[in-house]
Amino acid sequence: MSEDLKRLAGEAAVAYVNDGMTVGLGTGSTVAFAIRKLGEVARSRTWRVLGVPTSAGAAALAKSVGIPLVALEDVESIDVALDGADEVDPKLNLIKGGGGAHFREKVVARAASKVVIVVDESKLVPVLGTNAPVPVEVHPFGWKQTKTALEGLWCTAALRRAGDMPFLTDNGNYLIDCKFGAIPKPEKLEREINNIPGVLENGLFVGLVDVVLAAGPGGVRTLSA
Ligand code: A5P
Repeated sequence: MSEDLKRLAGEAAVAYVNDGMTVGLGTGSTVAFAIRKLGEVARSRTWRVLGVPTSAGAAALAKSVGIPLVALEDVESIDVALDGADEVDPKLNLIKGGGGAHFREKVVARAASKVVIVVDESKLVPVLGTNAPVPVEVHPFGWKQTKTALEGLWCTAALRRAGDMPFLTDNGNYLIDCKFGAIPKPEKLEREINNIPGVLENGLFVGLVDVVLAAGPGGVRTLSA
């Protein structure tokens, strides 16, 4: 069921792409359906689209479905960025980074003229922090001190692990997952977290999203900012 809803939302996002566009390719299981569908549509309509991947995983998937890739540094702009989310609030602010890719995802979203987010309805929450922690990418140097500073913002913080080792992002950094509970002012918290030395970026996306496609049993709803 959940896979069906992810597919429904993901594939609907391809309607926001046209021939000739440069497309930000997000990371995660929902946007993976968008990437696969985009490969299929571009091939069948002989479209020329270029993908800007937000992770090694997104790059590998895009290549496997025939989407040519380009580095962000090598393009003037991105027409549309497609991505998933861990939580979406009523103002279309997000928590992202469940897959650890939020740094590149945020840079790509900022560079995009339009940001389209695909989720199943379970990701819609009344207030950010309802279910998901805020992932924070930190430099390994002094990560324990960085974690202590994050705890000073009143959260429960945990280093993300992959087995016995710290999880490593595509940028070679660590992740600290911070449970704040309800986050009524995400713009303030986003700034406070990023103000801590050692923090590269956090998973709060505030004011970046244009459209959310939310799939439920009744179909796909389009939520606009
Ligand atoms: C990747 O780091 C994340 O930002 C994902 O976009 C987010 O976790 C959503 O992933 P799923 O679509 O797999 O739930």
